[in-house]
Amino acid sequence: MNDTNLPIVVVSNIVKRFYNRKPGTIGRNSWVIEALKGVSLQIRRGEIVSVVGESGCGKSTLAKSIALLLRPDTGTISINGTATNSLSRNDLRSLGQKIHLIFQDPYSSLNPRLSAGDIIMEPLIIQKVGSRGDRINSVVHALSDVGLRPSDFNKYPHQFSGGQRQRIAIARALVSNPDLIIADEPLSALDVSIQSQIINLLMDLKKKRNLTYLFISHDLSVVSHVADKVIVMYKGHIIESGPAESVFRTPLHPYTNLLISSTPELGKNKRKLCAQRVVDIELGNDKNFACLFYKHCHKASEICHFQTPSPDSESFLTDEHWAKCHFPGHVQPKMQNSS
Ligand SMILES: Nc1ncnc2c1ncn2[C@@H]1O[C@H](COP(=O)(O)OP(=O)(O)OP(=O)(O)O)[C@@H](O)[C@H]1O
Ligand SMILES: [Mg+2]
Repeated sequence: MNDTNLPIVVVSNIVKRFYNRKPGTIGRNSWVIEALKGVSLQIRRGEIVSVVGESGCGKSTLAKSIALLLRPDTGTISINGTATNSLSRNDLRSLGQKIHLIFQDPYSSLNPRLSAGDIIMEPLIIQKVGSRGDRINSVVHALSDVGLRPSDFNKYPHQFSGGQRQRIAIARALVSNPDLIIADEPLSALDVSIQSQIINLLMDLKKKRNLTYLFISHDLSVVSHVADKVIVMYKGHIIESGPAESVFRTPLHPYTNLLISSTPELGKNKRKLCAQRVVDIELGNDKNFACLFYKHCHKASEICHFQTPSPDSESFLTDEHWAKCHFPGHVQPKMQNSS
């Protein structure tokens, strides 16, 4: 059995709820947000899997769950074949070290009291890897891989620009040779001119070190350039998934079509299949409809009101192109007889 064919991550039907309460109140004033509502996916070694979707759809919650920073309420996450549900805190911590998360904001994600070298070295210290000398060598190597100089080792985060800080975050992610790097909107806090440098760096490093990325982004034009596989989320669900080339060429779900046609670089030649209105993201808004997108969809038909579109959660674990829609792609609902 070729080990490289085994998925690094298998997420199976996870649900994550957040319990909120108004400050100073108990009981009746609390409410629940279900940020993930039965999400399943897999990530194979060497792939770039991209997650896209509007703000609040659950992308970061998914990222933190896969990085083992959040425990799902139900469902399972397996890392390299090990189910994480029943692991002790220590075992979870050591498994979690195989996955590294790069956050969106390089200004708040780096500890201002530590030098760049110490920030990058931290994962090695936590994992008790090598002697101090070995660790310093690894850090200097990682600094040079991300285009920084050995002399940057002793500088503090405030002495770097935003792009350089994101390079430090990337070096920190690289230093312990992780199986998976999760980049949660790694470009959105950066100037446009710097964004392309950082994306090129991530792609160069992928080639050089055969890395695997879960890449979360609002920017579909970037995703279309870098991703092998695209996952589209909407209100805590995955509503479409498939090889990137296929998703961008023939989006199946009307929501994906709306996202793509709203992206200037990608939408030029796409017919807008959905009404161009702002999709409001209030969770629970479409509670009464079997299809989540019912209220916004020009194809919505009677079946969409009453029957949740397949596939069911287990079919999500496939690399094929699928969408949770009764009328995917060019399939049109049959006209109702008005007798
Ligand atoms: N710690 C938390 N406590 C309460 N609610 C939370 C928490 N984290 C996330 N949520 C809620 O869960 C939902 C999903 O949030 P999440 O941050 O995963 O969305 P997102 O897709 O990453 O959005 P964005 O694109 O804005 O980063 C949102 O409604 C959010 O308010
Ligand atoms: Mg987020």
